Amino acid sequence: MKNTGLFISFEGIDGAGKSTHIDGLAAAFKAQGRHVTLTREPGGTPLAEKLRDLVLHDAMDPLCEALLIFAARRDHLQNVIEPALARGDVVLCDRFTDATFAYQGSGRGFDLAVLQQLESWVQALPQGLAGNSATGLRQPDVTVWFELDPAIAAERLAGARVPDRFESQPVAFFQKVSDGYAQRAEADPQRFVRLNAAQSRDAVWQQLAQHFVQRGWLSA
Ligand code: TMP
Repeated sequence: MKNTGLFISFEGIDGAGKSTHIDGLAAAFKAQGRHVTLTREPGGTPLAEKLRDLVLHDAMDPLCEALLIFAARRDHLQNVIEPALARGDVVLCDRFTDATFAYQGSGRGFDLAVLQQLESWVQALPQGLAGNSATGLRQPDVTVWFELDPAIAAERLAGARVPDRFESQPVAFFQKVSDGYAQRAEADPQRFVRLNAAQSRDAVWQQLAQHFVQRGWLSA
């Protein structure tokens, strides 16, 4: 029997510690015979990776930033995410549209109505697909939010690498981003899994794995 595609996104402020857990989850799904597409935003295709580089390093106004992020998302959806879901893959995506509402909307204070308009154009489902959301747009089936106090995240990131345009923002910016994620989670509690990312790496992993076991997507 063909597996049904699963679309899982991972969110959190910079320094929340998503990456190792995304790799761990990919390994767990593969160990159970699932084909996994591991990808990220902005990015995931040659064009979207070029746009990522611009967004992370070049100065630009907030509308330009939002347009480039959604342009990258369009290319990524069309060339990677939709084909992978149609094959029945588990798509593990490091960030998706919740990041745009949290970073550009809440963090930068950019107009949420414009972001919603862009979302409705870019995430319109391919013809004939019923989709998985009440809005008729492509959305993740599950979004794992690594929730962390911005002050702790800043300590973790300090001196780790040369910061990009987002990582170099002050703690106050990440507090707003965090508030943005909280609003998204409140608006769609069925989709969001909130993890306390201040715990040890092992404890976070246990919580994460347990969630997918409970859903029946991973065996214990
Ligand atoms: P990463 O470091 O987790 O790969 O994410 C890249 C940066 O891009 C991160 O600081 C968050 C930011 N970002 C946005 O501002 N808006 C978005 O829509 C996405 C997907 C990422």
